[in-house]
Amino acid sequence: MHVDFEQARVMAAAGYELRELVREGRRTSVYRARRLADQRSVVLKCLRSDHTGQREAARLRREFEILSRFDHDNVVRAYGLERIGSGLALVLEDFGGGTLRELVRGEAVDIGLFLRVALHLVDALAVVHANGVIHKDVKPDNVLLDPRDGRVALADFSVSSLVAEEAQGGGPAFLEGTLHYMSPEQTGRMNRTVDYRSDYYSLGVTFYHLLTGRLPFEGSDPMEIIHAHIARVPLAPNAVNPRVPAVLGRIVAKLMAKTAEGRSGRTSSAAGPSSRRPGRSPTSRSRRRTSRSTSTSPSASTAARRACAASSTPSSG
Ligand SMILES: Nc1ncnc2c1ncn2[C@@H]1O[C@H](COP(=O)(O)OP(=O)(O)OP(=O)(O)O)[C@@H](O)[C@H]1O
Ligand SMILES: [Mg+2]
Repeated sequence: MHVDFEQARVMAAAGYELRELVREGRRTSVYRARRLADQRSVVLKCLRSDHTGQREAARLRREFEILSRFDHDNVVRAYGLERIGSGLALVLEDFGGGTLRELVRGEAVDIGLFLRVALHLVDALAVVHANGVIHKDVKPDNVLLDPRDGRVALADFSVSSLVAEEAQGGGPAFLEGTLHYMSPEQTGRMNRTVDYRSDYYSLGVTFYHLLTGRLPFEGSDPMEIIHAHIARVPLAPNAVNPRVPAVLGRIVAKLMAKTAEGRSGRTSSAAGPSSRRPGRSPTSRSRRRTSRSTSTSPSASTAARRACAASSTPSSG
């Protein structure tokens, strides 16, 4: 267990007992701590001392505001945004264990486990989109997995945006997200606005990674990866891993369609789940609305939910 004594002192003054450093990121440090007021275990996402500028603070504040829109078991819950020492910290529910990244580790995951995780993730995205938010960085590192009960939650909304802003062209002019998981339109090379269906693509890459243990487009040259997202068709996941049922291969291909329309079966995003009542807390009714699409063919997410549910029924998992 790694504990920084100065950090521990600062946290104690703010009412937290520092337990461990979970991850030192580029901009933020993530700690596990006990909140002294109620003894609850929490995770504190703190701006690093070399990233305390206004822009960074605004970004963390925004992540808190976005997380506050949701109240769902498959989206990490934010308890608050607090000043700890001289910096800001996002107080999150402690999800225990690790992320899907640790689960993959270069190997395909068990299909039963994949199906459980996939269903949770599809539900998480439905809620996120129904509340007018595009996640924009769906990948195994940003999916938390609680080893105690197998619960899965989508996390890290640090580059997320609101659908309304994207529609007005208000998205960032620079690349945000993670190149290997990024939709063609999110790379900025397609002259297309980003909408909620961009997350379907990243979900497709995440599924591909889980099912095969490798990325659809590997390599480290950014231009090559961008080109591949825009123009290349990856080897089907069921061709890479013969244990993958063909139906799952087809779902991944649909999620990873090059155009947003190909992922949703719609010609326009206007009637997408994201346009429905942004800012409202999700209810079971809003979740049902989300899955009842107005499109002529089922969206990739609906198809994924149906197929995952069907495939998970006969086998145990
Ligand atoms: N609520 C949580 N419970 C348990 N672990 C968490 C929680 N939130 C974050 N983590 C851990 O910390 C890591 C980093 O968190 P997160 O993805 O939010 O930040 P980041 O990737 O450093 O993003 P950025 O600095 O761009 O905001 C996660 O990959 C996960 O391992
Ligand atoms: Mg992250």
